[in-house]
Amino acid sequence: RTAPGVTWLGTPISKLRRMPECGGKLPPLKDVPDQHTVMIRTDLLRNCKVPIPYPATFLDTWDDVHVKMPCSNGNLFPVDDEVKLEEAVLNYSASHARKWDFTALDLYCNKILLCIGMSHSITMSQEQVACLLANAFFCTFPRRNSRKTEYCNYPDINFFRLFEGSSSRKIEKLKTLMCYFKSVTEQKPTGLVTFSRQRLDKPPDWTSSPTLLTRLHITCEGTIEDDGYGMLQVDFANKFVGGGVIGAGLVQEEIRFLINPELIVSRLFTEALDDDECLIITGSQRYSKYTGYSQTYRWAGCHHDTTPRDDWRRRCTEIVAIDALQFRNFLEQFHPDKINRELNKAYCGFSYSEKESQNLAAVATGNWGCGVFGGDTRLKALIQMLAAAEAGRDVAYFTFGDNQLMTDVHDMHSFLTQRNISVGEVYDLLGQYYSSVCENCLRRRPDVSLYSFIYEQVGSSEAPDESSRAPAG
Ligand code: AR6
Repeated sequence: RTAPGVTWLGTPISKLRRMPECGGKLPPLKDVPDQHTVMIRTDLLRNCKVPIPYPATFLDTWDDVHVKMPCSNGNLFPVDDEVKLEEAVLNYSASHARKWDFTALDLYCNKILLCIGMSHSITMSQEQVACLLANAFFCTFPRRNSRKTEYCNYPDINFFRLFEGSSSRKIEKLKTLMCYFKSVTEQKPTGLVTFSRQRLDKPPDWTSSPTLLTRLHITCEGTIEDDGYGMLQVDFANKFVGGGVIGAGLVQEEIRFLINPELIVSRLFTEALDDDECLIITGSQRYSKYTGYSQTYRWAGCHHDTTPRDDWRRRCTEIVAIDALQFRNFLEQFHPDKINRELNKAYCGFSYSEKESQNLAAVATGNWGCGVFGGDTRLKALIQMLAAAEAGRDVAYFTFGDNQLMTDVHDMHSFLTQRNISVGEVYDLLGQYYSSVCENCLRRRPDVSLYSFIYEQVGSSEAPDESSRAPAG
């Protein structure tokens, strides 16, 4: 079928859109109440200069819409029976924390937390991010060391779990993060990073969508972060963004958060993602190289990031955190409710209402939800292609070494595009597959695969003299 040595299929990757070339001009960066919190002086932004925090003095706020800060007067470490070890860490960190320049850290903003149900952005300088991460390292964030506080629906931010246990994975994680801290303390980074929580206002009407599929580049080589530069790069996320980055996890999301550590700060203020929400992080810098994956992950030295910056002085690296559903039962994912949820989640991540299609970079993705979360790669590839089409973006798909998957997804994409089969029609086929194959299936896996079913259904509805035969296999 696919000749040996073929490593990619579909549209050449050079034809897909990337930032900054494809993006239109950005509006001036400014603070917009209830929409965008900007934590620096935009009027004083200069190339190669460290941005000036805004406001200039720390406004102490200790309530439920602001991150509780270590420097706040409200921060009286509760002296109840917290574990002694934690106390030791906190005492230790208090002395270290004093060495850090807290005046630069002005976390005063309205609604600095990205809470459930809100669409809001926060832009801060890379220096501010570094300062917050240094605090996370020293575990100084109050009320964040137990799950029993008002932050129970937030990811962990204090790094204490990173220090426990003796696994070599932890050592490699520490090496990766130390490379970041060394770099930012030797030379202060001068850019900005934006964190945007985005909620889907209104899901598309999938059934009646006349949209046709967009272009696909599919390859069994390379990675999202290396080869998807300038594209909208998917983070195969946990609803608690960053997943197990501070703890034991070490797969796609955790690795991305380790090599681009600025992503970790999103854990400070991003409440768990709901079904119709995503988090987009623009401007994070890559600091490390790595080899291996999971058990074999190794830090492989510093990475010098040369990604160009946009008009807001952010690296043109856009990463979207979307959390797939975890499936323990294989058939469950074909249920229309689950398909809707995954379609809307992906669409929420890929859609960008204010931009024209020609200004939208391609989506760089791969086996979203199909590793730890147990999803079916062929179904998920199709779901992502539908969501990307609806959002007006092309797709660069990295199969992570899987040759057969590359061929199968490419064949399906060609089959659907050659016949002008719309998003709505594919959606309908997914529903038919569930009711005819999955719903009454008594085995663990369906008897007929999704792709064979689609080839058969579409083939049988076509005129017999047309060359409607499915690709072999
Ligand atoms: N580029 C392209 N593809 C990749 C890359 C990469 N850099 N890394 C891995 N893959 P997984 P999930 C492929 O298991 O199933 C985390 O703990 C590879 O084929 O990370 O959505 C999160 O925090 C891999 O098997 O994603 C969540 O808790 C597949 O992508 C949970 O895992 C899926 O990677 C999410 O699990």
